[in-house]
Amino acid sequence: MTDVQGRTAFITGGGNGIGLGIARSFARAGAKLALADVDAAGLARAKAELQSITAVETYQLDVRDRDAYAATAEAAERALGPVSLLFNNAGVAAGAPASKLSYELWDWVIGINLYGVINGVQTFLPKMVERNEGGHIVNTASGAGLVATTSGVLYATSKFGVVGMSEAMNPELAALGIGVSVLCPGPVQTDIVQRSADAAPKAGAPLSEEQQRRYREATAQAARYLQQGASIDAVGEMVLKAVRENHLYIHTDPSVGDMIKARTKAILDALPS
Ligand SMILES: NC(=O)c1ccc[n+]([C@@H]2O[C@H](COP(=O)([O-])OP(=O)(O)OC[C@H]3O[C@@H](n4cnc5c(N)ncnc54)[C@H](O)[C@@H]3O)[C@@H](O)[C@H]2O)c1
Repeated sequence: MTDVQGRTAFITGGGNGIGLGIARSFARAGAKLALADVDAAGLARAKAELQSITAVETYQLDVRDRDAYAATAEAAERALGPVSLLFNNAGVAAGAPASKLSYELWDWVIGINLYGVINGVQTFLPKMVERNEGGHIVNTASGAGLVATTSGVLYATSKFGVVGMSEAMNPELAALGIGVSVLCPGPVQTDIVQRSADAAPKAGAPLSEEQQRRYREATAQAARYLQQGASIDAVGEMVLKAVRENHLYIHTDPSVGDMIKARTKAILDALPS
């Protein structure tokens, strides 16, 4: 069990969406907040909202930039004390049909969704271990990190990586008193679809009129689907409970259950007898 009161939480993607939901829950539970995001306006809004509850510092940071990450970590620890709660949460959800992908798109999604998590761990974990004061790391994956959903090749590749990394880290870090959770949300009411579409590099090969129309339609449908999901505040509370109780998997709803069963069965059925 991790008591979060008085600890410093570093939350990437903390300016909006799930990161903001986590920030709210941990602020109410007495943690100090270092929020990092590329979105300066989102960070300013989050700070204005939360600074009456707890100490809040914000940092404009692209999680792909390792030097900037190291400098941000130093600044955050100088301002708020040692970071012992780490939320590798920043992410984007965009892609293209497999035949239309480019290295630029691969690098963008893997760079943020997977290397962003790796960079967070590389930056903070050695210090957490050296200090020997326990702590907890939450990596945000997705239901699409447990089963290949309709969210596309790029997104699934990045999120499967985050799940595998978290599962491997969990027992190793447990021995050092550091918990590891992987957040695998179903739909959550955020603007990730539009935010990602606005920021994404263009697909490699040009899309035909028809492909563009279908892409716009799929994007609008995905955005509508998320609005039927959990609220960011509900997800923040689930994450707080999981950290306190040291759970590896954090699901926000049961929607991927049948797909996980089907995938597991297909894998087991393929084993030689
Ligand atoms: N919303 C959902 O339904 C859902 C479902 C499953 C998983 N997720 C995952 O949850 C996480 C948070 O997503 P969200 O839905 O809250 O989206 P969001 O767009 O509301 O928030 C993501 C935040 O990350 C920031 N960000 C993007 N690129 C960044 C970068 N390079 N460096 C630093 N910050 C960056 C954005 O500015 C934004 O503030 C993501 O990893 C996402 O893949 C979301």
